[in-house]
Amino acid sequence: MTCVLIDCDPGLDDAVALLAAFGAADLDVRAITTVAGNVKGPQTAENARIIREVAGLDTAVPVCAGAPRPLLRDPVTAEDFHGSTGLGDIPFPDPGQPLSELHSVNMIIEACTASKRDPLTLIITGPMTNLALALTMAPDIAEGIAEIVLMGGADTEGGNITPFSEFNVFADPHAASAVFGSGLPVRCLSLDVTHFVRATQARLAQLRTVRTKQAEVAVQLLEASCKLEFSANGARDAPLHDPSTIIAVTRPELFQGRRAHVEVITERGEQFGRTIPHFDDEGPVLWYTQADDDGVFVELARLLGGFE
Ligand code: RIB
Ligand code: CA
Repeated sequence: MTCVLIDCDPGLDDAVALLAAFGAADLDVRAITTVAGNVKGPQTAENARIIREVAGLDTAVPVCAGAPRPLLRDPVTAEDFHGSTGLGDIPFPDPGQPLSELHSVNMIIEACTASKRDPLTLIITGPMTNLALALTMAPDIAEGIAEIVLMGGADTEGGNITPFSEFNVFADPHAASAVFGSGLPVRCLSLDVTHFVRATQARLAQLRTVRTKQAEVAVQLLEASCKLEFSANGARDAPLHDPSTIIAVTRPELFQGRRAHVEVITERGEQFGRTIPHFDDEGPVLWYTQADDDGVFVELARLLGGFE
């Protein structure tokens, strides 16, 4: 059993990642912490509550609201790819279960502090503001962190929000620099790998054969993602960005990469938010470059079927 805390900015693909995580029998999801990103902070928190209820869970899995803005830069959002609600404008019922009273940063600090004997895996699928703040407020939480598995950055693929920068890093480059530079073990799913794991129509058809409500909702979310991806940049098949982090935890053998020190450009200019992996066998970051994309979708189907 792997104990995880998921820090996210739901967001269509974050929502699919959450459903996959909740369906995974071998993951113990301790808490969901949210952050401003794809949409404004309060909306990402509400979206996480919505998905928690789709999964049939209650406040036993707390959902926290987090940093409402990046550390230093001006806030940016990504409604073009996620719709105005952040969940593709799909008409979900309002969530009934309340938000935790704990701020995301305090939840990360409390959860990691309590896990020093059995360190947590932190999964981050949005801007890294919350963890950067937690590490600044309480550096010794590092003892309670086994590893960080995050979606962010781009090198050979170039950016998706500017020619150089991927959204999660672009939205808070200073936080990303703090996390990549923390020395903590990181496994990074950048666009260099998620761009090669795409929700094709054939794969969506396969997911439709999974007979759980959660799989049905995940397909709706992925269909909305494909539509918005097409209108935003003409690509028909949306990359499976955030769910790939969950599958990198449940099936790490599906991914390959090289170790690196990752530099983040934090100076204003056309390369603001660019990530540069400096490959080094001693580097703290495993920068993934390859994935068995068929295997990833087989695993996604297994996880979404886990609610049976
Ligand atoms: O660039 C893709 C990332 O930005 C994903 O995490 C998506 O949800 C958005 O947050
Ligand atoms: Ca995200």
